[in-house]
Amino acid sequence: MCGIVALTGHPDAVEKVLTGLSRLEYRGYDSAGIAAQDAAGHITVRKAVGKLQALRDTLADTPLDHSNIEHSTIRTTIGHTRWATHGTPTTANAHPHQGRLGGPQVTVVHNGIIENYKHLREQLEAQGATFHSATDTEVIPFILSQQLVTHTPLEAIRHAAHTFHGNYAIAALVEGMPDTVLATRKGAPLCLGLGEGWYAVASDPLALAGLTTRFIFLEDGDCALLTPTAFTLHNGEGQPVTRPVQVLDLDDDLSGKQGFRHFMLKEIHEQPAVVAKLIETYTTPDGTLALPFNLSNVTGINIVACGTASYAGAIGKYLLEEHVGVPVNVDIASEFRYRNPPLAEGGLFIAVSQSGETADTLAALEHAKAHGQTCLVLTNAPNSSMARAAHHVLPLLAGREIAVASTKAFTAMVLAFTLLALELGTDAPAPHLAELRKLPQLLNNQLAALKPIKNLADTVTDAHSMLFLGRGVLAPLAYEGALKMKEISYIHAEGYASGEMKHGPIALVDATLPVVNLATGADGLFEKTLSNLREVEARHGRVILITDTAGAAQLDDATKRGLTLITVPDAPKLLTPILFTLPLQLLAYFTATAKGTDVDQPRNLAKSVTVE
Ligand code: G6P
Repeated sequence: MCGIVALTGHPDAVEKVLTGLSRLEYRGYDSAGIAAQDAAGHITVRKAVGKLQALRDTLADTPLDHSNIEHSTIRTTIGHTRWATHGTPTTANAHPHQGRLGGPQVTVVHNGIIENYKHLREQLEAQGATFHSATDTEVIPFILSQQLVTHTPLEAIRHAAHTFHGNYAIAALVEGMPDTVLATRKGAPLCLGLGEGWYAVASDPLALAGLTTRFIFLEDGDCALLTPTAFTLHNGEGQPVTRPVQVLDLDDDLSGKQGFRHFMLKEIHEQPAVVAKLIETYTTPDGTLALPFNLSNVTGINIVACGTASYAGAIGKYLLEEHVGVPVNVDIASEFRYRNPPLAEGGLFIAVSQSGETADTLAALEHAKAHGQTCLVLTNAPNSSMARAAHHVLPLLAGREIAVASTKAFTAMVLAFTLLALELGTDAPAPHLAELRKLPQLLNNQLAALKPIKNLADTVTDAHSMLFLGRGVLAPLAYEGALKMKEISYIHAEGYASGEMKHGPIALVDATLPVVNLATGADGLFEKTLSNLREVEARHGRVILITDTAGAAQLDDATKRGLTLITVPDAPKLLTPILFTLPLQLLAYFTATAKGTDVDQPRNLAKSVTVE
């Protein structure tokens, strides 16, 4: 989603900001822009629709020194990648936005949503402001310009922020105030990067990888003023504050596909190593668990997440209920946060999020915390807003995931729930952990035999719609399989619990509909799955069965002839969800590549959704 990078005092500010924006590219965006300021305080803006290369092309066609600014003295630049919310992706709607009302001209970049922008815009228009975009953002420079008439810059941005409803991270330049960046945040993340003779602001520290290892994370309401030699930080009440400096060793490597055609394929192949690392980190060789927290007397659990993470949470429910024996609710964060669900005293709340920044999940976590829940977050971003807000963090240790469609982070989430279920459960963990240790090798074996899935993918590319069915712990995995397929191949797909097929989806079945069934031969329910398959077959539907060797052994020859069979290795029950995940990821991946879609950055999607 949107990204902010700003630098003041850096001799190569424009290039460093563009590089910083490219580090955030993977999150998804549809336009980009920068504003550069020279030593006299003059500012000029360049924007372009599409990828960052389009902005670079614009800068080559109309260099910054074509404007009224002195290129050689540019030390200060703010930049933005925009994922459209208010207004289509056009140059006019791309950030930075500029405005002047009473005071100096102000130039801003903004992440998040100003929810009351319509009302503010009407007020500003009545006072003489002229708007040039359809964005909510454009109210910000006018309001900040007004506030600068009567307030110091830090007070001006604090007062301006008080008029905004919603979530925001903002960086601003002011005409005539050379080498000064103003910044504030509420809800959306923003950090300062500390350099030698320069300072930076970014929505994600990753943007500054290779530039600095020292960061300060702003808290809600914080306002910052940065010059090349100093920064001042005030809280939302206007009091000077100090925030801790965190040292982060960020991976500077942007190239990283390591010979794979896409990041998604690379990340699928990293799963054996991710699984091995999680097991090694969170267990001991003598068969006990070593999670980085102690939870006791858990009487009930709420799991809240969005998208793929919510399906990992739904798998977690099956695992926790079976091993811990306490009631577990799973909720989609956007529903949970406004429903005001009753939360029993002493409950455990688990937020699941690859990015740790998803706006709805973060808000749900804060709601649960305010209602006395013990909050744990399972996240792949241990420096994220959720990690800071939660009482306990279980880092997923999957390494940076670049492809928008989550694969290795999902697998890490499912494994993390497995470990948590063993930690909170009463069974002796040692035998289970011995089973889990077989996972990396089993996944490697699966990855060595991709051909049947690639062949299968070639046969579903023309489908307009697909169904994914599963029972038990494989039901939420069917939802995830359908999500993965629609995210990257753009084929409409729905996931259902197998038992629900007769209650509606069967009406869709005809010769054009591939129906992917997930079933293990080891749960005593395989006969029921076979009945479901026959119901599809009888209506000339295309049956695809993903099952283990135990399931395949229960098929007679006639049934085998009527379907496409993909087998996963036989394995203990605890390993089932992860072993069935791989074929679903690969089926979606090979279907998408056969269709020629943008696999790593599918249309309209963002990696971390920081608006509601
Ligand atoms: C977006 C992504 C999904 C992801 C979801 C939750 O919608 O496109 O792939 O599952 O956000 O993200 P999170 O970072 O909270 O896991």
